[in-house]
Amino acid sequence: MSASDLVAAARRAREHAHAAYSTFKVGAALETADGQVFTGCNIENATYGLTICAERVAIFKAISEGHRAFTRIAVVADTTAPTPPCGACRQILWEFAGDIEVILANAMRETGRFKLRELFPHPFDSRLLNE
Ligand code: THU
Repeated sequence: MSASDLVAAARRAREHAHAAYSTFKVGAALETADGQVFTGCNIENATYGLTICAERVAIFKAISEGHRAFTRIAVVADTTAPTPPCGACRQILWEFAGDIEVILANAMRETGRFKLRELFPHPFDSRLLNE
């Protein structure tokens, strides 16, 4: 699959966002090592704190379906500047996906491309627990 196909899937997922409080809609599309795509959107809640980001929805869907190997994630928001995953999502992505490619885009174009390690250079992970 091309990067633009993955971005297109994230754009479609963004249309399902429940962003009633922030109005900031986000879509994500996560590619598995065997070429499947799991999408997510942000889902907000009246308590605010129970809001979950698009990226975590996508990865939790994939994990709960038995997937454990990932290659890329596309994240789409309606911003001219790149909207990268928040700190919590970086931690979760690192746990399950390691140093994957992170493709950022808006409705019109790709806005940035990073390896997760660039966005999350000093992770806390299980290697430290088992040292
Ligand atoms: N949000 C995401 O879904 N992903 C990001 O990468 C950044 C933030 C959501 C959370 C909340 O619903 C809204 O965007 C504003 O923070």
